[in-house]
Amino acid sequence: MDRYEQVIELAKRRGFLWNSFELYGGVAGFYDYGPLGSTLKRRIEDIWRDIYVINEGFFEIECPTIGIEEVFLASGHLGGFSDPLCECKECGEAYRADHLVEGHVEFADGLKNKELDGLIEQHDIVCPECGGKFGCTYEFNLMFKTSIGPGEGRKGYMRPETAQGIFIDFQRLARYYREKLPFGATQIGKSFRNEISPRQGVIRLREFTQAEAEIFIDPKDKSHPYFKEVEATSISLFSCEAQESGTIENTTIKDAVSNGTIAHEFLGYQLALTQSFLLRLGIKPEYLRFRQHKKDEMAHYAIDCWDAEIKTDRFGWIETVGIADRTDYDLKAHSNVSNQELSIYVEYDEPITTKEMVIKPNMGKLGPIFKGKAKKVAEAIKGLSPKELDKNEIRLEVDGEVVVVSSDLFTYSEQTVKVSGENIIPHVIEPSFGIDRILYCTMEHAFESELLEDSTDNDSLEGDRRNVLKFKPEVAPLQVAVLPLLTRNELIQPAREIIGLLRRRGLMVDYDVSGTIGRRYRRNDEIGTPYSVTIDYQTLEDNTVTVRDRDSMDQIRVDIVDLSETLYKLIKGDIIFSEAGELVT
Ligand code: GLY
Repeated sequence: MDRYEQVIELAKRRGFLWNSFELYGGVAGFYDYGPLGSTLKRRIEDIWRDIYVINEGFFEIECPTIGIEEVFLASGHLGGFSDPLCECKECGEAYRADHLVEGHVEFADGLKNKELDGLIEQHDIVCPECGGKFGCTYEFNLMFKTSIGPGEGRKGYMRPETAQGIFIDFQRLARYYREKLPFGATQIGKSFRNEISPRQGVIRLREFTQAEAEIFIDPKDKSHPYFKEVEATSISLFSCEAQESGTIENTTIKDAVSNGTIAHEFLGYQLALTQSFLLRLGIKPEYLRFRQHKKDEMAHYAIDCWDAEIKTDRFGWIETVGIADRTDYDLKAHSNVSNQELSIYVEYDEPITTKEMVIKPNMGKLGPIFKGKAKKVAEAIKGLSPKELDKNEIRLEVDGEVVVVSSDLFTYSEQTVKVSGENIIPHVIEPSFGIDRILYCTMEHAFESELLEDSTDNDSLEGDRRNVLKFKPEVAPLQVAVLPLLTRNELIQPAREIIGLLRRRGLMVDYDVSGTIGRRYRRNDEIGTPYSVTIDYQTLEDNTVTVRDRDSMDQIRVDIVDLSETLYKLIKGDIIFSEAGELVT
């Protein structure tokens, strides 16, 4: 069994991840989160919230998972969010054509459909299921279609990213943040992509959870106010250039921004923040790198994009986070389709003086000629360009009608005016996290199968093997196991009281009385519970319990009165185990 198989086997058996619709045979690309999986996912999301919502101050919003057609027309997803699909002419099985040619070419991303067909023919690639020949490759849009309301209804699509909801709410958000850049909003929620043939288990899902931040910044100022705090961060970069030579560059955020590898401070800051989040989850630093998108693989909306890639045993380096400079692409696109201005007024540090043509319509003359329309004609005159002002007769469009105005209906002159700001369309910096992949990587990196040679752990045998998920304490779904040494009433009663104490402190507790104490330790090691509390006969004498540390298997003795606080501090990382009590030998 490789690590993927080991982790998934454990995940299924112990209630982390289950194939969806298993009762009916299952469908690829969907997974259920069991009790421990849901709790683990919530912990990961809460750490993300701690960083992006609490510390960065980007408030969370919640938009519908179904979007209307206009949204995806503007965003470009209706036109271009597709993968190349080819089907076997014999059995009808569908494949991604670029995946079929991988292994025959160095880089299959970005190849045109005709090129993919050429490669399939050249390398005699046949259907892996039945050996049949493939038909022509065509583009398959990845959005799930639906309709809103009965009958034909209004066309709807399941959102392929949470980001669009935030762009649609731009005007409201700008007002909420008192029109001051930079500001940002976040969203954690489900997104949907009708993947052609997801064959990578939990790594490629058709329904998945994204955590995204859309940060609106001044396009003329991509510096970051807190860059100094992260500039010394060491980071592994796999830039476009490095990908040519195949060498990863270990550098600092500061150097990478100074030498232009990372385009600007704001993006650099986001890379550092992403790294701190992933390391806080327990991702191994040597298995984390940031890969820059090459020009031909970049999403249609981005000018620079870095993926945080995590190394896995079976799938190699996989993309888990995308950090993109989306420029003003989305706001401009929604502004065009909705006919609404999506801009923000930015004040200059100092007002500037500039020359401006001031046009004054003569209402005394316009009124009798244009009557009810006079005001609108006056507005249209004010919008004339300097070139048009010199003409004797000017044609204007007002309410879809052409009107002709003569030059005696207005006056104009060039004046010096003081300008204190301008309307700009902000640029968007977007860190976008794939929570499901991150959860799987967190599990794989935490997983160890250890041979215990001379363990002092109660009930363990020499040569015993234990599977353990070495989750960071703040990530572990269950935080404490409460285990009466024996299933006797005199031990069960204090155990129940201790559970109450710990739950009131907000700790997630498992109570386990089945089997020997050694087996119960093993069960909790396997699901990553960082601390076990054992109630024994000494407890009845001196009101102390044993606390066992999952990773070292060391045990300390702690007074019941201090127990919940000690465990809380251990889980928060405020104290370390060896400081928490007297070691039991
Ligand atoms: N919002 C970026 C993505 O979904 O890929």
